[in-house]
Amino acid sequence: MKAIDDSTIGVVLLVDTEGRFLRTVTDGDIRRLLLDGAGVTDSLSRLPETRSITVGPSATPKQMIEAMDAKRIDQLPVLSDDGMPIRIVHRRDLGGQVLLSTPHIGEDELAYVNEAFSTNWIAPLGPNVDQFERDVAEYVGSAAACALSSGTAAIHLGLDLLGVGQGDTVFVSDFTFIASVNPVLYLGAEPVLIDSEPQSWNMSPAALERAFDDARRDGKMPKAVVVVNLYGQSADYDPLCEICAKYGVPILEDAAESLGAKYKGRSSGTIGKLGCFSFNGNKIITTSGGGMLVGDDPEVIARARHLATQARQPVAWYEHTEIGYNYRLSNILAGVGRGQMKVLDDRVARRRHVGDVYKSQLSDIAGATMMPEPDWSFSNRWLSCMTLDQVEQGKSPDEIIARLGEHRIEARHLWKPMHMQPILRHCRFYAHDDGANEPVSAGLFARGLCLPSGSNMDDDTIARVTDTLRNTLSAR
Ligand SMILES: Cc1ncc(COP(=O)(O)O)c(C=O)c1O
Repeated sequence: MKAIDDSTIGVVLLVDTEGRFLRTVTDGDIRRLLLDGAGVTDSLSRLPETRSITVGPSATPKQMIEAMDAKRIDQLPVLSDDGMPIRIVHRRDLGGQVLLSTPHIGEDELAYVNEAFSTNWIAPLGPNVDQFERDVAEYVGSAAACALSSGTAAIHLGLDLLGVGQGDTVFVSDFTFIASVNPVLYLGAEPVLIDSEPQSWNMSPAALERAFDDARRDGKMPKAVVVVNLYGQSADYDPLCEICAKYGVPILEDAAESLGAKYKGRSSGTIGKLGCFSFNGNKIITTSGGGMLVGDDPEVIARARHLATQARQPVAWYEHTEIGYNYRLSNILAGVGRGQMKVLDDRVARRRHVGDVYKSQLSDIAGATMMPEPDWSFSNRWLSCMTLDQVEQGKSPDEIIARLGEHRIEARHLWKPMHMQPILRHCRFYAHDDGANEPVSAGLFARGLCLPSGSNMDDDTIARVTDTLRNTLSAR
């Protein structure tokens, strides 16, 4: 009992005369022994035989946590291959699970949500929705904004407003999440996929130009171009806008991931005719789920509101003359959004810091390169991403993801390009390089990964990820 008391973790290990592990002993074991009639001077060999849970010397933190969870315990002995105790590992020493990107709530969100409850504004409209729209429009510098139930809804409505319909074509960034393309399909239009360029990982002007050349030759221009700002970084809009302006085709900016980012000082989401943001739980700020459509023509945004509320005509009864959607954001969730807008700049600064630490701490590792940030870009660094050179680094994203997973650190593949998605196999695709080279998007997918990037990671957690990554990347 004295030994248990002296140990900071409340257990001692019982070993045989050779020092080999027999079992763990807790004060509960001794209490049961005494209740069973043992005297205080009796030997612990009276303890019943038990198979204490242990792990071997090469157990990963993930395996240790799984073993502890299975037995609902908080510590376990680590034994050498010949059964000698090496140490006792405690759950708290293993650190928590580090996720890619988690919500980071500020101080005011709950007050706005409470206000919605106390005033009984539990509806897909209300004062929080109105103010959230004004906050976002003012922040990005757009004339108007319409709060919606998701970023996907914003893209869907935006394309509808740009006149996309059955049988049309829409040019879309190839290197993106499927939500950039799905709305094109909802509208019965055909997506034409445009590769990335290597500087920003976003839409390649060279590929876009070739797609337009072919469209002109075929006599069928696209109705819109969906340009995605990936991982929080703007596309290189000057050349993209020039090409689109030449053909008179509007750009819809999929800025789902890039609220707070800038292109040559202009807010992401405000360069195209319409811009779409997402407030999904993993984004730079969140409403748990939600989206926003922004634009400089208040009439277009007013029409978005109309379409998003089932396109009900302004008469006393329910009258409908066109297809509408039920896409408005709830007044409760908009309350979360109002609070989140107050901390957006802090969240951007922290995510940029996370990326800076990775960059400086991993700069000497051969063949590991962080996502480039051209000098015209101010990325919100929604996700910090890196690529691994096949020759210099030699390890695949799969290996790194698995290794980090063993240390309870989540990393993920970069987006799998749209031209490689089974559902979009039939779509035309324009590569950055017209020659035989691998498409930029395919190369990024093969060799890239996203690292934990949350603004709520403290310095110790960032250091834990960096150290684990360094060890993993440098291991032979
Ligand atoms: C590039 C991109 N576009 C669109 C979306 C769709 O946003 P939401 O999940 O809010 O529908 C997302 C994120 O989920 C995204 O990453």
